[in-house]
Amino acid sequence: MPRDHSVFACRGCGYESARWLGRCPVCGEWNTLTEVVAVPPAAIGNVPVAVPVGEIPDAQGWRLRTGLDEFDRVLGGGVVPGTLILLGGDPGVGKSTLLLQVAGNLGRSETVLYVTGEESAAQVRSRAERLNAVAPGLLVAAESDTANVRVLCERHRPVLLIVDSVQTMRHPDCPLAAGSPVQIREVTGDLLAHAKASGLGVVLVGHVTKAGLLAGPRLLEHTVDAVLLFEGERFSPFRLLRALKNRFGSTQELGVFQMDGDGLREVPNPSAVFLAERAVGSSGSVVTVSLEGSRPLLCEVQALLASPAFGSPRRTASGIDAARLALLLAVLERRAGLRCAQLDAYVKVSGGVRLEEPAADLACGLALASAFTERAVPAEVVACGEIGLGGEVRGVPRMGERLAEAARLGFRRAVVPASAPPMAGVGMSLVRVRSLADALTAVLGPQGGA
Ligand code: TYD
Ligand code: MG
Repeated sequence: MPRDHSVFACRGCGYESARWLGRCPVCGEWNTLTEVVAVPPAAIGNVPVAVPVGEIPDAQGWRLRTGLDEFDRVLGGGVVPGTLILLGGDPGVGKSTLLLQVAGNLGRSETVLYVTGEESAAQVRSRAERLNAVAPGLLVAAESDTANVRVLCERHRPVLLIVDSVQTMRHPDCPLAAGSPVQIREVTGDLLAHAKASGLGVVLVGHVTKAGLLAGPRLLEHTVDAVLLFEGERFSPFRLLRALKNRFGSTQELGVFQMDGDGLREVPNPSAVFLAERAVGSSGSVVTVSLEGSRPLLCEVQALLASPAFGSPRRTASGIDAARLALLLAVLERRAGLRCAQLDAYVKVSGGVRLEEPAADLACGLALASAFTERAVPAEVVACGEIGLGGEVRGVPRMGERLAEAARLGFRRAVVPASAPPMAGVGMSLVRVRSLADALTAVLGPQGGA
């Protein structure tokens, strides 16, 4: 029988089970479950206390602003002291670059400790020079032992500790190799305890595996206060920062950067940048307004239809879910009379953005219909609305904010659900539609749907 505070964790994926299993049910590996003794919560924090809720100091009150506005905004206004933030992303996406820029900015007025386990201190220096991040308060240590990191923190008292990466760090009491799930958990637990006890903000870098999970145990996500993901397409200069978890702010915010020769540049107005290379006048292109956090974001949705080379038709979607593309094609065929379900279909969203909101349905549907009819959607049109299986166009939240942003960027007509509230003064002519078929007729002309 396992002891009270013990669990069995898989060395491969971090899956935890209350009892021993020969085969991990998550990753399928054999003999990878080993017993680990869970640290009771009281051992991590201080002596247990309970205080009246009104007397608790406001954790949101003070935040460390890094000076990189896009980074601060995704965190909800900056780093809350005493918290642990995990920054995940594919190798090479720019995690070290981003954090070195953050450290360089802060290092002009504060002390920041950048612990590198991946690159030598000399490599960090030459990169810092290139990024114009050589600042008096930026201290660099090539270190992989958490006990030594604690010593350095006590000696230098930084306001922010950056550990690049968690996979290269070791806890002195844990005999396992750096990067193994148990080691990662020990390292994180140690740094978290240090952050809470000293009020230090800690950013941990974590690489993402091919499967898209943060390498090592997913249980890290439960331990840390915020999980940020830095993403970008391989050949696109845009990098998107979003919060998967944030105990001190929204998870809806999106930070946009552009990677160029001297590092990451903030993109304060991504809509204009994403639309700059729009294929105006060509069929299959429609602009929509997505609400990513507090900011509406305009993106172009492009679609292309082609006869299948052989066999069943292909569906290739980048920036929207492939299942949603299949659904929209079926609705176009069955509810709007467009015989497109047997064609190869490709959909792409500009700038490497992922449109997860249903509000993008209408623009995708219109882009597919425009590709099918080879008629261009007028350049001054934006479309926002959810499409139901009956072909009906449904309402979406915060339409006024979306249209105000579109109007600011020069759009003059908006295709919106019939149920959208009246919007006087938004500076746009509204085309209210009940169904996808109505929208096709309104935008592509009378035969738009046939
Ligand atoms: P890096 O920050 O090392 O990625 P990560 O820490 O996520 O593994 O980024 C490496 C990539 O960024 C590399 O392919 C080169 C590119 N890069 C630039 O294009 N410009 C720059 O100024 C820097 C520093 C990197
Ligand atoms: Mg790196």
